[in-house]
Amino acid sequence: MGTLGKFDIAGRSALVTGAASGIGLAYAEIMAEAGAKVTLADIDRDGAEREAERLRGEGFNARAARHDVADREETKAVFDAHAAVYGGLDICFANAGIDPGAGFWNPEGRRNDDGQVDTFDPARWDRTISINLTGVYNTMRDAVRLMKAGGKGGSIIATASNAGLVSEPIVGMAYMPAKAGVLHMVRHLALELAEFRIRVNAIAPGPFVTNIGGGWLKKDPVARAAWDALVPLGAVAETDQLKPLALLLASDASDYMTGSHVVIDGGMMLGKFR
Ligand SMILES: NC(=O)c1ccc[n+]([C@@H]2O[C@H](COP(=O)([O-])OP(=O)(O)OC[C@H]3O[C@@H](n4cnc5c(N)ncnc54)[C@H](O)[C@@H]3O)[C@@H](O)[C@H]2O)c1
Repeated sequence: MGTLGKFDIAGRSALVTGAASGIGLAYAEIMAEAGAKVTLADIDRDGAEREAERLRGEGFNARAARHDVADREETKAVFDAHAAVYGGLDICFANAGIDPGAGFWNPEGRRNDDGQVDTFDPARWDRTISINLTGVYNTMRDAVRLMKAGGKGGSIIATASNAGLVSEPIVGMAYMPAKAGVLHMVRHLALELAEFRIRVNAIAPGPFVTNIGGGWLKKDPVARAAWDALVPLGAVAETDQLKPLALLLASDASDYMTGSHVVIDGGMMLGKFR
C-alpha cells in the first residue's frame, strides 16, 4: 500500500459520540467524506438525526443514534446497533463532553464566587466527571468489545483537551482532572490493547468555535478577541481544521501511533504571546 493509500478508510465503519455538533460533527463529516459508514451518536437525538440526514443527502452513509455516554446500558445498545447495521466497528471517536461552568477566574480578570474549589457546586463535579471521564470509559469499553470480536484491530480516538495538560483558570475545575484522566486512560489502554492491534490515541484541542458552554465563543466578541490574542497562530480555530488530524488517527496512516496525544492549539500552550 502506498503512503497515500494508508489514508483510505472507504468501507470501514466509525462511531462518533457527541456527533450532533462542533468537533464531533467535524469528525463524523470527515469519516463520511472519506467513505466510512458512520453512526452519529448524541444525547441530542434530533440534532444527530438532522446531521445524519444531511450527510445522507450529500450521498454519504450515515445514521443517527440517541446516546447518553453516561448511561452504560444505553452505550452498549448503541454500539450493538451500530455493529448490527454496519457489520462491526473499525473506528471510534470518544468525543462527547460538556463545559462544567465557570472556573476560579473570569475573562474580566476577577475571581468567580462560584468557581473556587470550596464554592464549586459538587453536583457540577459529579456531572462533568460522569460525562467527560466516565463517559469516555463507557464508550471505549464497548468499542473495545466490538473491535476484539471483529478480530481486525481498530482505532479509538478520544477528544481530550490542552486543559488536560495545563490549567485553564476560566474553565470549571472538574474539567482539568477529567481531561487529564482521559489522556492517561488513553496511554494505559494503548498498552493493554496493542496485542489486539487496537490503537488508542487522543486529540488535545485548544480553542475551537463550537456550541460548548452555550456557544459563547460565537456569541461574545469580547471573549472571542481575548482568546484570539492568546493564540500565536492568530485566532481560535474552526472545527474543519481538525479533520486532517482525525483522518490521520482513524486510518492506517497512523499505524505506528498508539498511546499518543496530539496537541492542536495554534501554539497556545507554548506560552504567553502578546
Ligand atoms: N471547543 C473547544 O474549544 C474544545 C477544546 C478542547 C476540547 N474540547 C472537547 O471537545 C469535545 C466536543 O466538544 P465541542 O466543543 O464540540 O462541544 P459541542 O457542545 O459543540 O458538542 C458536544 C456534543 O456532545 C453532546 N453531548 C453532551 N452531553 C452528552 C452526553 N452525555 N452523551 C452524548 N452526547 C453528549 C452535545 O449534545 C453536543 O452535540 C468535548 O469533549 C470537549 O470537552 C472542546
